[in-house]
Amino acid sequence: MAALLCLVALVCLCPSISAYIVGGAVMPHGALTLDPRNFNGSDNATESANSLHYSALATGRFVQSLEADIILLLTPHGLALPEPFVLYNNPSAAGNVDLNSWLPCTFAPCTYNASVQLDTHLTKRLAAALVASGNNVTTLSGFGPPGEGSLPMPLAWGEVIPLYFIQRAYNDPDREAQPGMQRTQKPLHSQQEGPQQQPQRRRRLGRRLAAQAQSQPGSSSNSGIRLSEVQHPATTASDSTALPNFLLLSMPSRRYQHSVSMVPELLALGKALFAYLDSLDARIAVLVSGDLAHTWDSAGPYGFSEQAAQFDAAVLQWARDLDRDALLKAAAKSVGEAKSCGFPGMVVLQGILDQVKPDNMHSVLLEYGHPSYYGMMCAVFDFQGDA
Ligand SMILES: *[C@@H]1O[C@H](CO)[C@@H](O)[C@H](O)[C@H]1NC(C)=O
Ligand SMILES: *[C@@H]1O[C@H](CO)[C@@H](O)[C@H](O)[C@H]1NC(C)=O
Ligand SMILES: *[C@@H]1O[C@H](CO)[C@@H](O)[C@H](O)[C@H]1NC(C)=O
Ligand SMILES: *[C@@H]1O[C@H](CO)[C@@H](O)[C@H](O)[C@H]1NC(C)=O
Repeated sequence: MAALLCLVALVCLCPSISAYIVGGAVMPHGALTLDPRNFNGSDNATESANSLHYSALATGRFVQSLEADIILLLTPHGLALPEPFVLYNNPSAAGNVDLNSWLPCTFAPCTYNASVQLDTHLTKRLAAALVASGNNVTTLSGFGPPGEGSLPMPLAWGEVIPLYFIQRAYNDPDREAQPGMQRTQKPLHSQQEGPQQQPQRRRRLGRRLAAQAQSQPGSSSNSGIRLSEVQHPATTASDSTALPNFLLLSMPSRRYQHSVSMVPELLALGKALFAYLDSLDARIAVLVSGDLAHTWDSAGPYGFSEQAAQFDAAVLQWARDLDRDALLKAAAKSVGEAKSCGFPGMVVLQGILDQVKPDNMHSVLLEYGHPSYYGMMCAVFDFQGDA
């Protein structure tokens, strides 16, 4: 409850003026979060699934409140190559989750769908920038020429489940603000900006300049990109329920065995993502899809390990206190036996956090639970500084 109150406070702080990496979230992708009535567990497990469901809804609302022009989604269960990270390079991506392949579905709908537009122009430039800074990244297109495939790239549970909660937030007619409208009416909004908001805005500008000063001279060519170069969804303007465009980055399959030895590389990738994306004249949100330890239950597919509790406790400490060592040392020590698909994405996020001025960073751990054999967490991150 306290966490939810904090979230409300965070949501209210979100401005719609400055442009940079504005925040992010770590979201679970367990099917039982979609409609916990379908999850027929013990009483306390069902309660935990319910809490995760409502927190995922709140996380979706937080992401929506960031008023992002672009959302970067990091997925551990996408199309993967053994070595390079993959940036999807089709104009769209879509897919669904058939609940019956995870749980017996008694409460309809039993299929959950997601569909997003990808910014192929930005995808291409981002891939080039990441490769130029030494990261092992490639674009991947399907069903047509690069950036022009007429069919969507496929999405599955790792993307569809978090996207479902975000789309719910954009669809919700009762949400307080209408960010879709604010997004396309920036001048109006700045007229409404009261005197008290000015210092806040200046501070944000300060942060932005500080970040620019940190970025290497070689990367300054990025700042030539203007908002006009960021594609907007075809359905924009009046349609405030339209999601922003996405960048979709998928982890290489070597992450299954080598996520610990990948830590320096994952941090470097986060740093390079920040250097490029934060210099754009666009609001960028970062969404990490990932679950925690998968070895909570001896009857589960990965068995039981004492490291599951160690790993999850360390990740929670990271998310709650922005405690870098908790993730990079303690969680890394346990991840081999804990088996967490979320670990690599969270380390990339840490690489981004490393570049944000500490005073401007806030995080709220909204919920954690392991109603089934794996841990799940909803955590939100705001990089916009406080009032
Ligand atoms: C839920 O589980 C109980 C006990 O394990 C079982 O009797 C019941 O049929 C299950 N309900 C559904 C809807 O699957
Ligand atoms: C997803 O699409 C299917 C088929 O159109 C539909 O039956 C189902 O209700 C949709 N799911 C949701 C959650 O809207
Ligand atoms: C990226 O992976 C490929 C395939 O294994 C490898 O040949 C290449 O050297 C790697 N590039 C970098 C920059 O690590
Ligand atoms: C539910 O209660 C049992 C027995 O006390 C405990 O072992 C288990 O960890 C609990 N599950 C959750 C999700 O809290």
